[in-house]
Amino acid sequence: MPGTPARWDDAEVRAAFPALALMDGGIPRLYADAPGGTQVAGRVLLRMRAAMVDHCANDGGAFRTSRLTTEWRDRSHADAAEFLGAAADEVVFGLNTTSLLFHFSRMLARDWRAGDEIVLTRMDHDANVAPWLISARERGVTVRWLEIDTDSFQYRYDSLPALIGARTRLVACNHASNFLGTINDVARIVAAGREVGAVTVVDAVQSAPHLALDARALGCDLLATSPYKYFGPHAGLLYVRRELADRLAPLKVRPAPDSMPFRHAPGTPSFEAELGTVGALEHLAWLGERFGNAAPDAPLRVRLAAGLAAATAHEAALATRFLAGLKELPGVRLYGIAEPRDVAGRVPTFSLRIGGRSPAEIARTFAARNIYVWDGSFYAYELATTLGVRDDGGVVRIGFAHYNTLAEVDTILGLLGTLARDG
Ligand SMILES: Cc1ncc(COP(=O)(O)O)c(C=O)c1O
Repeated sequence: MPGTPARWDDAEVRAAFPALALMDGGIPRLYADAPGGTQVAGRVLLRMRAAMVDHCANDGGAFRTSRLTTEWRDRSHADAAEFLGAAADEVVFGLNTTSLLFHFSRMLARDWRAGDEIVLTRMDHDANVAPWLISARERGVTVRWLEIDTDSFQYRYDSLPALIGARTRLVACNHASNFLGTINDVARIVAAGREVGAVTVVDAVQSAPHLALDARALGCDLLATSPYKYFGPHAGLLYVRRELADRLAPLKVRPAPDSMPFRHAPGTPSFEAELGTVGALEHLAWLGERFGNAAPDAPLRVRLAAGLAAATAHEAALATRFLAGLKELPGVRLYGIAEPRDVAGRVPTFSLRIGGRSPAEIARTFAARNIYVWDGSFYAYELATTLGVRDDGGVVRIGFAHYNTLAEVDTILGLLGTLARDG
């Protein structure tokens, strides 16, 4: 029986991340750069050390370290499957999301014909645009665009029936924007694509640190995440629906296994990153046991969901405080959902500009105080173009994770306030 969840404890959560204790010249680090990559949980380091010290070997051999590598490889796929809402043989690890989507675009585009169509969106990171765009150009395929409403920062869902039809071969969309923070109704887009038999692709890189995923229930064919965005190592982790994997002729070297998922994961993987991902999921599961309502012996998927729910509740408090504070500041333009009561519709990623100030200059002002925020367009190429900021320095992006605190939010608001009032 699950007990009463403990109250969220910033100190205890932060102690799980070795990097959060670091200072520079006596000044603490304030990490508000989570959408670019989160800090790494201590459990990740333990797992990666084991992969690189206790059993550093290639898989598939008869000797002890190789057998252990094989066992842990299987465990990492099984755990990742619980995280994604998939089966273990539907999970492919890779270098990162970008290279995984390029790899699959090459296989998928082989049977595209001139006159076929694909649907891409103006909100996606270019990792879920360029691979399809390049293949479309090579195959004479027409690209149609799902636009965004620049007032609500939502997709124009009403246009879906006109965009998706009998000629549509692929629909690629974004779950949570790395620029706006908007959480999108990907179920609606995937359903529209499936109805016409198109391959559907969901970029869940920015939702994975915040929301429980369920790839099978969503019904998409590919769903991409990157463990370094959810407290793990630099890697990519892709769900590949079995029905799609079975019909794609793999791009593989001949002696490599024919079995899934290995036939779609060419070459020797980073076993240390796979194990590090196990560690990242252990961290989220720990949150679920400690601050959620999951019993320690509950299935991993239950503990993960409870962990993400606890994290999201804390993040909602951070986002509410941030948006309420922002409202008081003159001359700040936020690109994204701005009402504190609407925080459930967004992840805690905030892109803004202050008057005529350059985003790079603002980021440097923050950096001088050891506060880490990003400036630029973050590869959201189409979106930055649509918003008219791509050639103009982009925006300042402030992004939180569950290890951030209300005090940190206040520090950032204080500095934004000074910049805003100074014009
Ligand atoms: C939404 C989104 N998709 C894709 C990517 C690319 O991921 P990777 O760096 O793993 O290739 C990013 C990286 O920032 C992202 O934010």
